[in-house]
Formats: sequence, structure tokens, C-alpha cells
Amino acid sequence: MGKTTKIADCKLIDFPKNHQLNGNLTSITNGIEVPFDINRIYYLYDVPGGNSRGGHAHKDLHQIMVALSGSFTVTLDDGQDKKSFHLYQPYQGLLLPPGLWRDLDTFSSGSICMVLASELYDEEDYFRNYEEFIAWKSSK
Ligand code: TYD
Repeated sequence: MGKTTKIADCKLIDFPKNHQLNGNLTSITNGIEVPFDINRIYYLYDVPGGNSRGGHAHKDLHQIMVALSGSFTVTLDDGQDKKSFHLYQPYQGLLLPPGLWRDLDTFSSGSICMVLASELYDEEDYFRNYEEFIAWKSSK
């Protein structure tokens, strides 16, 4: 995976939603909805209007992105095709296998992007240069 990942390998996952009159509750469980072991959780918040995030790809990292609050757009690029997902449901996650360039934008005010990740933070796992990413994707 990684080099050969295609946009079609991404999908939206529905997490269980416990709906009650006094509020909703969603749980996310390793091995049930998440096809990897979660080793790290981070979240983006206080993103100023008009700003974008991402602008990179990962070599080995599996992730799930969740719009815990508000909304934002994730645009994915596998080197051949692009697809945008508008995330706005706190009970839905976007599964991102490694090997995809991603850009995040159109953050609504007060939005929170939570990311469940399979590995600890490692700058060596990043492509931050688009041309290097494309060269890697097209190499045998
Ligand atoms: P980056 O992954 O580029 O964030 P985004 O995709 O939201 O634009 O990370 C931004 C900065 O935060 C970068 O300097 C690395 C640092 N960082 C950590 O220290 N730990 C982490 O777990 C993550 C994801 C990033």
C-alpha cells in the first residue's frame, strides 16, 4: 500500500451513534470501525477563516479524519485522480490510507478536525513536496 493507493481506497465510515433527547454520543473502537491500531490522536482547531492545512502525503501512515465540530473540505490526490470530501458529521470518518496527497480548506468557524492515526508522529513519513510525491507514486 502507499505507492499503489488509489482514491477508491478512501471511504466514509459511519460510527455508532447513540441518539438521545439530551444529546448524541458516538464511540470509535479499534478493530471494529477502525482497520488499524490507533497510536495517536491529534486535532486541528482555531483555523483562521480562509486558511488551508495539509499540503502533504504520507508514506505509511493510516488515518481517519472526523469533523468533530463544524465542517471542512478534504481534497485527495492519488497522483492520477482527485476527489473532494466535505466533512461535517461528527459520527462519520474519512478513511485515508497512506500514499495520498491531501489539502484541507473551507474550515467553518469553530471547526475541529480530529485525526486518528496508526503511527506516532514522524517527519520522515511525510512528502511535503508534490513533485517528489508524484515521482514516488509513478516509480516501480
Ligand atoms: P502537519 O502534519 O503539517 O499539519 P497539517 O496537516 O494540519 O497542516 O503538522 C503541522 C506541524 O505540527 C508540523 O510542524 C509538525 C507538528 N506536528 C506534531 O508535532 N505532532 C503531530 O502529531 C502532528 C500531526 C504534527
